[in-house]
Amino acid sequence: MKKGKFIVFEGNEGTGKSTHIKRLSKHLDSISHKHMVTREPGGTDFGEKVRTILLDTQSQLDPLSEALLFYSSRIMNYRNVILEAINRGETVICDRFHFSTLVYQGMCQDCKEVTDLHMVLDNYFSKYISLIIYLDADVETCLSRMGRRSTSDKFESQGRDFITKVKSSYDTLFSTNKKVFRVDTANNADIVSDLIIERVQEVINE
Ligand code: TMP
Repeated sequence: MKKGKFIVFEGNEGTGKSTHIKRLSKHLDSISHKHMVTREPGGTDFGEKVRTILLDTQSQLDPLSEALLFYSSRIMNYRNVILEAINRGETVICDRFHFSTLVYQGMCQDCKEVTDLHMVLDNYFSKYISLIIYLDADVETCLSRMGRRSTSDKFESQGRDFITKVKSSYDTLFSTNKKVFRVDTANNADIVSDLIIERVQEVINE
């Protein structure tokens, strides 16, 4: 059977990942395209428990311990949920994946062990990725959208310097990755979702 496509959304805080994933999923429903949406950390019961630990604002975990927890959640989600669906021929949409660990725990916190770990595991996690949708926005736009949220998790509450680092890390990381489709989300949301749908449509028709 033909394998399903694996589409990963990545990007900074306040770039509208949840909104645009919902819009894409609604579009795929409207054309009866079989797909599933999952997220990281999360996706399984175990992953959702790990999510609670990782996003706790009181967490004192260092970046390497955090990365290992993100990976433990990811491995279960990847093996038990994502690969199973891809093998059934379904399209999988994942809200963040291993690039988030490299950016947030590795590059932004200068943790060499996390960067090394990414080098070791990248082939395994990237093997089936068909498309990476990088939702980008300038730092001011991210901060103003984050300011409208009623609660913030550990990473969302880091402030301007961190958000600036996240943006420049993603920009550097994705500058040479041919699977990346970058969309500037400072644009009108309808324009952004049309661009995403158009690109996804090309990928699922391949
Ligand atoms: P979300 O709010 O976009 O679902 O993501 C949860 C937070 O976790 C977000 O602030 C980014 C952070 N995160 C990491 O720091 N490392 C990771 O590997 C992942 C998947 C998320």
